[in-house]
Amino acid sequence: MSKIVQRNKEEWNRIQKMSEQRLEYYFKDDYTGESMPHTINLSLNNYCFMKCRMCDIGQSRANRKDKDMFFNNRAAGGGKAYTLPLEIVKKLIDDVAPYKTIIRPNFVEPLLRADIDEIAGYVTSKGLDFYIITNGYLLSKKAKTLVEAGMRVLRVSIDGTKDRHNEIRGLPDSFQRSIKGIEIVIEEKKRLGLEYPLIGICFTISDHNYDNLLDFYRELDSLGIAKEIYIAFNFLRYSTMEEAQTQNALFPQFFPLTQSSISCIDVEDIDTEELCRQIKAVRDEFAPDSYKYHFNPHLNDDEIKKWFDKKTYLHPEIPCFAPWTVAQVFYDGTVGVNGRCVSPSFGNIIDKPFHEIWNSEQARDFRMKLRKTPIMPVCNRCCRTFKVDDEKKD
Ligand SMILES: C[S@@+](CC[C@H](N)C(=O)[O-])C[C@H]1O[C@@H](n2cnc3c(N)ncnc32)[C@H](O)[C@@H]1O
Ligand code: SF4
Ligand code: SF4
Repeated sequence: MSKIVQRNKEEWNRIQKMSEQRLEYYFKDDYTGESMPHTINLSLNNYCFMKCRMCDIGQSRANRKDKDMFFNNRAAGGGKAYTLPLEIVKKLIDDVAPYKTIIRPNFVEPLLRADIDEIAGYVTSKGLDFYIITNGYLLSKKAKTLVEAGMRVLRVSIDGTKDRHNEIRGLPDSFQRSIKGIEIVIEEKKRLGLEYPLIGICFTISDHNYDNLLDFYRELDSLGIAKEIYIAFNFLRYSTMEEAQTQNALFPQFFPLTQSSISCIDVEDIDTEELCRQIKAVRDEFAPDSYKYHFNPHLNDDEIKKWFDKKTYLHPEIPCFAPWTVAQVFYDGTVGVNGRCVSPSFGNIIDKPFHEIWNSEQARDFRMKLRKTPIMPVCNRCCRTFKVDDEKKD
């Protein structure tokens, strides 16, 4: 096993362990005592310049008449560009430092912030791990300083071979710029003799690229990048109009759901047999190893068909543990569970320390409700872990 794969494996096991530790709290009926998430996801701003076809934030920009999209309402919102003030970000980091919480800017576009390397450096100076997810367009500019700041995990979103990716993302040079950025990070790691950051590529599977998985992997391989990274092939997360209506009728007190992530996607156009063939072809050509590439969630062929059948309700028996394990801080300082979740705001870090908000009445109340109704319509095709890859079970 290469050192990179070994480190990916260790990281996966570390996160699993942190999640399991927090589940003790899930099984407490009265929720006495305090908990903290193992990771805080951060939306550091509310503006993104891309028009990705599968993303409500990008599509709200591409189609300005139709701004009523879930991600846009929750994560981008407001008419004006806004960044979470640096002093508030630092206050949050100070507050959670004793709990060793992972800090992970993951939403909208974190590299648009000029001070992102300062934030990374502040996080690591407090002994916390810094992860980031980016569209990669501005990565070349920040690659060196982020590596020097001690970033632990970098994820770059690339959704296909050059032309496919650029078409999906709405910019003609997006693929080239992301690859350049990744190459600089790899060089910097080597120059400084570092094993971190671990580098991942996120590929969102949609009607625009379901037949492109094998060519994509081959392209990364021919560029010499495949051996330096892992790939997360993520099935498109989406909610239908029917799900949104049912959700809002059942839970009017939660954040309102709209049809999500399908304004520019034709789920019906996805030939799931071809997609399953692609997955098999990738596995045949590149030895299966979940720490090099994995499919998220882990689905068999029948489940893949159901995932892309808008009428199917997948695995309602599996509850979501996210509100016990991870948090999302939005661009305006409000705290919820994750970008897709309809949890109400539990409070605002501008007014109160994070640990108080995470253990507030509002947060406990949401957890209690979720335990009684373990899966809501919005949870269909959200982040619940359906099944773990066989290789990751031990
Ligand atoms: C919302 S983006 C924010 C970070 C950054 N702007 C980026 O594109 O990586 C976070 C991740 O969600 C992915 N994504 C966007 N829309 C999605 C959808 N409908 N289903 C699953 N993943 C999606 C993106 O490709 C990216 O990997
Ligand atoms: S996926 Fe990322 S880059 Fe694309 S529009 Fe959404 S937030 Fe922006
Ligand atoms: S699965 Fe449901 S409860 Fe869990 S984060 Fe997603 S929307 Fe929220």
